[in-house]
Amino acid sequence: MSPRAVKRVCLAYSGGLDTSVILRWLIEVIGCEVVAYAADVGQEEELSGLPEKARATGAVDCVVRDLREEFARDYVFPAIQAAAVYEGHYLLGTALARPVIARHQIEVARETGCDAVAHGATGKGNDQVRFELAYRALAPELEVIAPWREWDLVSRSDCLAYAERHGIPVTATAEKPYSIDRNLLHCSYEGGILEDPWRRPDPSMFLLTRNPEEAPSTPLEVVVGFEAGVPVSVDGERLAPHHLLARLNHLAGAHGVGRVDIVENRFVGMKSRGVYETPGGTVLHLAHRAVESLTLDREVMHERDRLAPRFAELVYNGFWFSPEMDFLRAAIAQSQRFVTGEARVELYKGAARVTGRRSPCSLYAEDLSSFEAAGDYDPRDATGFIRLQALRLRLARLRDSRTGSGGGTGG
Ligand code: ARG
Repeated sequence: MSPRAVKRVCLAYSGGLDTSVILRWLIEVIGCEVVAYAADVGQEEELSGLPEKARATGAVDCVVRDLREEFARDYVFPAIQAAAVYEGHYLLGTALARPVIARHQIEVARETGCDAVAHGATGKGNDQVRFELAYRALAPELEVIAPWREWDLVSRSDCLAYAERHGIPVTATAEKPYSIDRNLLHCSYEGGILEDPWRRPDPSMFLLTRNPEEAPSTPLEVVVGFEAGVPVSVDGERLAPHHLLARLNHLAGAHGVGRVDIVENRFVGMKSRGVYETPGGTVLHLAHRAVESLTLDREVMHERDRLAPRFAELVYNGFWFSPEMDFLRAAIAQSQRFVTGEARVELYKGAARVTGRRSPCSLYAEDLSSFEAAGDYDPRDATGFIRLQALRLRLARLRDSRTGSGGGTGG
């Protein structure tokens, strides 16, 4: 491969084996300087010794950014408001973290005079697409380097051998028989032994949730408060976004809430088996919809619900920074103005259930829906309402009996 005109690259760096090897490979093969960049999105890995490690591996600089609050506030919470769930189950924990990581990587690249950015995502997954679409959208002037698609290292042992040859410090971590991606919103497990979609995940695999059968046998109720669609409190205590999410992870995780095991469609075309635990996110989605059930107009709710799968698809496919996403976000934000109130959620043995909701902006009118008082609703109006709704249905049926055709509604 011919050396490119890249002088200095900003690498998304974790300090793990892969990105350590990439760091040195960029220096050796591309012939550029490397600025290492590490983002804290709540993966709970030790970040304190990272700059020293990056320099020992050859980086000219290392920048660590704490993105936890921004991740929760500007990425996770908008996805909750959007009711964004991919293919019915996946709460998008990895997909939502990529754009915030990429956005800051671009900032760091510019601040440190880089002319390129690089990431350690493999050539088969969604993450390469997400990183690179974000890079292109935010900084079209920067060169993009994806070492996994360029080099000839194919396995972990190749990487270990490369590290040894180049004296790269690697912390000996036992190799997990699957790949993990953890952040404040979720932990994902895929690849390796999980590639057989019939194989049951080992109960000892899970990091954020207790096995439901080992969860407490007394249920726990939590009350989640929202203001204009934004989660603001747990059990009446106001919390910053990342602390709120961490609190719910802790409470719901202890009760085994938020596990899913699915086969999903990757953007790059193949199907892939994924196991996820999203304890706090699961509670937030449920509680948010419960407050919406009191506060959203029916038609607004249904419109938002039509946008939800599209929003999820854009997040999954890596189009966070795109004109169509801006459009969806504006519409969804507008729907949330009155989504203020609280929901009570019961956590028990792996399940989360809503047991109550209340709101100062409620559209729920007890006197209207109860069978007792009449309120502003006159049941006699329903006679005409139903007759007009039925007009088309009667005409269709009359046509069928006239023409002798079967019709589509039975009989
Ligand atoms: N399949 C999920 C997604 O595409 C999780 C990906 C996990 N990423 C990883 N590098 N292990 O969002």
